[in-house]
Amino acid sequence: MKNYSPAFERNHHPITESLKTALPNRGSVIEIGSGSGEHVSWFSQAFPHLRWQPTDVEKNLSSIAAWIDNPGCTNVASPIALQLGKDNWPNQSYDALICINTVHIVNWECVKSLFIYGAQHLNPGGVFFVYGPYKYKEQDLAPSNEQFDSWLKSHNPESGIRCFEDINQLALNNSLELVNDCAMPSNNHSIWWRKKPD
Ligand SMILES: C[S@@+](CC[C@H](N)C(=O)[O-])C[C@H]1O[C@@H](n2cnc3c(N)ncnc32)[C@H](O)[C@@H]1O
Repeated sequence: MKNYSPAFERNHHPITESLKTALPNRGSVIEIGSGSGEHVSWFSQAFPHLRWQPTDVEKNLSSIAAWIDNPGCTNVASPIALQLGKDNWPNQSYDALICINTVHIVNWECVKSLFIYGAQHLNPGGVFFVYGPYKYKEQDLAPSNEQFDSWLKSHNPESGIRCFEDINQLALNNSLELVNDCAMPSNNHSIWWRKKPD
């Protein structure tokens, strides 16, 4: 039942380091696009003081459930189906949202939905955290990211590496203030915002 993502092996230690800075000391975290479930299994044990809610499209839920079926994961809720642009969000608000390597997969309408509904479901002061490759208006993309972008678009013309300035504008439009944009290994970035007080 467990799926495995090679990217998890490469990125979970560096992402954990940025989450140590970004995440609150207490409360709940919703993950959008939990994938195999390896990240939420790892993060829930690395951050045992937080409560975790994994989500993804329906077909991934069984792998996520298998990964959190672990005595170290008592702080993780059962995964729920949350397909951006289709499913309703839980009737609950969170202290943080994380979304890893998913913004470049989903189409732009889904990215907008992530920021609109994600921000709505954060408590004031809540953290909105994304990790992945991003473009910057005044900078050339690294060759490896150029190739990755072409590969993404060859599989789905609506996928592609997003522009930081565009997602930052979406964040600003949805009451999120930029906290940090941290360069990560292999031309990735950890970027996080904080929801303004009401
Ligand atoms: C590249 S994977 C990243 C998975 C995981 N976060 C990781 O880093 O290993 C992209 C994820 O986005 C999910 N996804 C695709 N379309 C989606 C949508 N419309 N709403 C939510 N998740 C979606 C996929 O099912 C997949 O798990």
